Amino acid sequence: AENWVFTVTAQTPTNIAVIKYWGKRDEDLILPINDSISVTLDPDHLCTTTSVAVSPDFTHDRMWLNGKEVSLSGGRYQNCLRELRSRASDVEDEKKGIKITKKDWEKLHVHVVSYNNFPTAAGLASSAAGLACLVFSLAKLMNVKEDHSRLSAIARQGSGSACRSLYGGFVKWIMGKEENGSDSIAVQLTDEKHWDDLVIIIAVVSSKQKETSSTSGMRDTVETSMLVEHRAKEVVPKRIIQMEEAIKNRDFPAFARLTCADSNQFHAVCLDTLPPIFYMNDTSHRIISYVEKWNRFEGTPQVAYTFDAGPNAVLISHNRKAAAQLLQRLLFFFPPQSDTDLSSYVIGDKTILQ
Ligand code: PMV
Repeated sequence: AENWVFTVTAQTPTNIAVIKYWGKRDEDLILPINDSISVTLDPDHLCTTTSVAVSPDFTHDRMWLNGKEVSLSGGRYQNCLRELRSRASDVEDEKKGIKITKKDWEKLHVHVVSYNNFPTAAGLASSAAGLACLVFSLAKLMNVKEDHSRLSAIARQGSGSACRSLYGGFVKWIMGKEENGSDSIAVQLTDEKHWDDLVIIIAVVSSKQKETSSTSGMRDTVETSMLVEHRAKEVVPKRIIQMEEAIKNRDFPAFARLTCADSNQFHAVCLDTLPPIFYMNDTSHRIISYVEKWNRFEGTPQVAYTFDAGPNAVLISHNRKAAAQLLQRLLFFFPPQSDTDLSSYVIGDKTILQ
């Protein structure tokens, strides 16, 4: 029977960096200029669900994102597909009469259907979850026999930050030394159970799509910023060691100080770029000032903030009580749909999947 379809579905949450990746040393392979560390979010709140299918009836590789067809012709998709196809193995399902040999994968085409359970245009890292999920589901479909770290090196070529979404809990992306990128992989530092009282609240400051893509922003920064080299060579290596220690010891004050400082330095490096990149807006700045004041008043950090390539605040509380207090205060000082342009809150615990 020729008309079979073989499908696999997977779900992958997004991740938020607490020590940021910003700057590539190789744009094609997506090799970073420094290590980074992230926390993987709860799949109930911000995740991608992807179904992939293969059938002898398919004539092209095709993909639909949130119901709309998107092109797979971009170099990054092509790199991921090529890497996966070259590692595919035999697949056999006697009941359904499916038999695909390693060689068949070179000619067979795939269809990909992907949904984000959050608005793609909300400026919330959607490419991390999306590319990680695409690579993970295709690897399952093609019976690729490689561990999560090896798969992370493939997801990395789709979107740098995606490599960290292959694991839950706290994850480190090791920049690596090799020119071919074989050692630029993600490793899990601790699983999702290790520090499970952390609560993450995302304040959606603006749902507009970012003006400067991370790709062009990073390129401009690496070409023009004088601060970025200092950051990558002198600052981040020390922070990575301190952050690993803070996570291991569940030391919230150290964790919060490092997270906030690293977010601020990332945005300082953006400002040091020509032309300068402004990802945060007035509301973002007011949230930072508010959290700083609160932490100072308490004498020890209650909340950490971090901002990616957009104005939305990711706020990390050390437990549920602090999170409830934070949300109460946010709703009071930054009511959604008021004169501030805050539109909503997303609340999630950090977690894992797969
Ligand atoms: O992987 P990209 O191209 O989406 O870049 C991500 C860059 C930041 O989100 C700002 C930092 C990070 O480490 O995730």
